[in-house]
Amino acid sequence: MAERLQKIISQAGVASRRAAEKLIEAGRVAVDGQVVRELGLKFEAEEHIITVDGKPLASRERHVYFLLNKPKGYLSTAKDERGRRTVLDLLPEVRERIYPVGRLDNNTEGLLLITNDGALMNGLLHPKYEVEKTYVARVTGELTPEKIKALREGLLLEDGMTAPARVKLLGEDRGLTRAAITIHEGRNRQVRRMFAAVGCDVRALKRTRFAGLTLLGVPRGQHRALQAQEVQALYRLAGLEEAEA
Ligand code: URA
Repeated sequence: MAERLQKIISQAGVASRRAAEKLIEAGRVAVDGQVVRELGLKFEAEEHIITVDGKPLASRERHVYFLLNKPKGYLSTAKDERGRRTVLDLLPEVRERIYPVGRLDNNTEGLLLITNDGALMNGLLHPKYEVEKTYVARVTGELTPEKIKALREGLLLEDGMTAPARVKLLGEDRGLTRAAITIHEGRNRQVRRMFAAVGCDVRALKRTRFAGLTLLGVPRGQHRALQAQEVQALYRLAGLEEAEA
């Protein structure tokens, strides 16, 4: 993505955006050996040699963002010391050091973001920003209006009350009840524990939505790169100003 020269310089950690503008105006910045004094010109950082006072900017690892449709049987970690399959095995072509944004249980499937952008990851996982996740669960037993009310209003789990959730009954499926639940917390095995608290055992769990993104067009086990505007939207949700990618 082409970006303004002052932004490229500030992202390289040389100076703030304002100070970078002053460096440019002072004729201290060159692109491919040519001094650039005009503010606002855009360049692809990776395709040019940009220098400040003759010193090239340190190269920064490009940020990459993927949406994965995780199948069951893959751990949401970057590495497993016991050699079990991890979600990163599903993105073998990616050379950057990437990590999943949060976790899905080994036997949960669905939407998982994968990136090397630590600032975005922290923001999306921070409870303050209340980033929404929707899961479709297939559970045993009947989901009575009382149970749905309890799930919606908040339940007492071992680690405290759950925040209000949105719950929608989707119907019957092969003897199980299907329901969609939207939460913004991210406690360990939270959805399974919420249903267990109302006497329902989760037999299948799939995350269908995360931070406004869906699995549309991404079959199980496949992934796609996020588009620039999707990354920008995530930045806004995560309380960050703009993508550095
Ligand atoms: N809640 C769960 O119980 N499991 C998951 O994988 C995600 C949310």
